[in-house]
Amino acid sequence: MNNIKKTFDNEFIKKTVYLESVDSTNTYAKKHSFNENTLIISEMQTNGRGRTGKTWVSKPGCGIYMSIVLFPSVKVTEIMKLTIVCGTAVCEALNEVCNIGAKIKWPNDIVADGKKICGILTECICSGECVEKAICGIGINVNTKEFPEEIQNVASSLYRLTGNEFDRSIIIGEIIETFARHYTDLISGDKSGKIIRDYKNLCVNIGRKVITTGNPQISGTAVDIAPDGELIIKTADGKEVAVNSGEVSVRGEGYI
Ligand code: BTN
Repeated sequence: MNNIKKTFDNEFIKKTVYLESVDSTNTYAKKHSFNENTLIISEMQTNGRGRTGKTWVSKPGCGIYMSIVLFPSVKVTEIMKLTIVCGTAVCEALNEVCNIGAKIKWPNDIVADGKKICGILTECICSGECVEKAICGIGINVNTKEFPEEIQNVASSLYRLTGNEFDRSIIIGEIIETFARHYTDLISGDKSGKIIRDYKNLCVNIGRKVITTGNPQISGTAVDIAPDGELIIKTADGKEVAVNSGEVSVRGEGYI
């Protein structure tokens, strides 16, 4: 089992907090007061959390469980942009290190070979309309050999895809680098078109049939990503509807 107990401090990450075990790196980041751009990594989580109240399986040694604490000075309504940036950065980093042709299932599941290998949970603490603190939580199935039966058909790992074990610290280092680049673009405010274009090029849903969760369900073809990260779905009657990740998930045929 390779070790991730090292510091990732650089120009962007001001401090790395390494934990042997924690309930959830996101919960830990929310509860404690950290400076901007702190990275929290844990070897395992006892209560790893996913989107929509799901559990994130977080066994020791075989995965990456990390959260980045950010003070992004964006409005609450713009928080999806952070999700977009994080998904793009992680997907690019995984392709760079592992060459797996990963894509993004909107809003930010990283998928390869039709299965999910990484999930991202973006949470924020707000003051009025402004985001005071945002937490990007990233969970990656790296050297996982087997999955619980109930998620076997939808989950995979870098090991299962390639037959190789990966050094988790190399992947974390690459994510930090790509994330810093895209996040700086987001904060500088003048490259929002590029961020959306990069994301759209990786988004596996575009041009495919999708159906949303929630009530009412919207079904149609995913045709575009809106400037603030919403998925645009063209319904059978030709209308274009924008859906927000805070409200819905999408499914196509099978998991994607
Ligand atoms: C999802 O796809 O549902 C999101 C999964 C996010 C999991 C990561 S692991 C690190 C961080 N801490 C958590 O409790 N969740 C996120």
